[in-house]
Amino acid sequence: MSIPVITLGPVASAYVPGLERLRGPVTVVRRCEDLPELVAACQTGLARAAILGPGTTDLTASLVDRLRSVGVAVIALTDGAPAGETLEGLEYVASTVEPAVLAEAVSRAVDRFDDDAARSRAGAGPLQLPVAAAPPPVEVPDGPGDGRIMAVWGPSGSPGRTTVAINLAAELAAAGSSVLLIDADTYGASIGASLGLLDESAGLAQACRIADQGGFSTRALGRVAVSVAIKGGRLRVLTGITRPDRWPELRPVALGRVLDAARSFVDVTVVDCGFCLEADEELSFDTLAPRRNGATLRCLEAADAVIAVGGADTIGVPRLVKALAELADAVPTAAPRVVFNRVRAAAVGHTPEAQLREAWERFGPSTPISAFLPADPAAADRALLAGTALLETAPGSSLRLAIAELAGVPVRGGRGRAPGRRLGDVRFSGNTDRLPR
Ligand SMILES: Nc1ncnc2c1ncn2[C@@H]1O[C@H](COP(=O)(O)OP(=O)(O)O)[C@@H](O)[C@H]1O
Ligand SMILES: [Mg+2]
Repeated sequence: MSIPVITLGPVASAYVPGLERLRGPVTVVRRCEDLPELVAACQTGLARAAILGPGTTDLTASLVDRLRSVGVAVIALTDGAPAGETLEGLEYVASTVEPAVLAEAVSRAVDRFDDDAARSRAGAGPLQLPVAAAPPPVEVPDGPGDGRIMAVWGPSGSPGRTTVAINLAAELAAAGSSVLLIDADTYGASIGASLGLLDESAGLAQACRIADQGGFSTRALGRVAVSVAIKGGRLRVLTGITRPDRWPELRPVALGRVLDAARSFVDVTVVDCGFCLEADEELSFDTLAPRRNGATLRCLEAADAVIAVGGADTIGVPRLVKALAELADAVPTAAPRVVFNRVRAAAVGHTPEAQLREAWERFGPSTPISAFLPADPAAADRALLAGTALLETAPGSSLRLAIAELAGVPVRGGRGRAPGRRLGDVRFSGNTDRLPR
């Protein structure tokens, strides 16, 4: 299995392309610019190793200890021979080595860390490393599942993330997949209201609470998720937090465990994510404070596919361009699929798709546009009013057909997707080890 690593500083992050070209031994899951960001990322349980660039921080025993106490092996890139005494538990590597040599050092450091931790647990070795803070094992009785996770994300300004998430989930469920829909938006959760669910149970917060206590199983997930019937299928739903100030209840480590369990629970999990990726500024090295955007980052890191939804107008396009650049920095493993929503001539000109393509070619990143979802206020409102998905209230609407096409499921009389194309054929981009079975 590939070792997830976090880098600190420009020298370490310059290794990212080289490490990625090795295709396997290590995966860079986050590039950090400063120490508080690195410590916060390590505390989410995201990585097994951290590569610290030269000059990024004072290498102290307490820093090494701190990172190791949350299960992270530490590798220091050095200019020349390490100055002063070398620290125990730290792997030193010259900052001029080839990426393959660095990858070997990472894997050596992780092996040594695991050996030390095992010795420490047995109470036998000379090294008594703190292992108490290492996350307890997740109780997933059916073994690691191979269900896929699709994150629906996009910049601020309501580009239509929730609409896309609900309708993608509904289309997949109606096509025969088992589907879990999760509302992980820490700023404006709205799946419960959009589906007319009256219960105020904040299912995701409940699930995270159980997962935080150590054991979390598909059975627990089954108990907490609400079951919602939709035409032709059934959705399981974890509703979001009922007030934005409840965001600390969605701790990234716990959320990661919920997502792990979801992979065993259903074929596809669709997550409606918050928009903001910024690392919280008030974090200092010594705090264990939860981060508001940690939930979004965790979902994006875990996702096999990221759908990036942008508004198809003069405000939405530049916002999406900026947001995608932030995403590339914060979650280098994400391979987003760009989707424009509310596509309409009134906002961009006569041939809106052509206009958007042209603007994207000029200003956007190289990521191609995967779909154009038309503006269809009547259909969107009818579905909201009825508290359901478009496939029930507006099955023939152009918006529904476009979302079904994005989901890769055939709709008879739809917009020309080859008949018989089912979920198993859908190409999920993102983490390569989760490509289609
Ligand atoms: N393609 C569309 N055409 C018309 N209205 C839309 C479309 N997509 C979304 N809407 C409406 O826009 C509003 C905001 O959408 P929503 O999905 O809640 O955005 P977000 O989750 O990004 O905040 C909702 O009222 C929704 O019904
Ligand atoms: Mg929303």
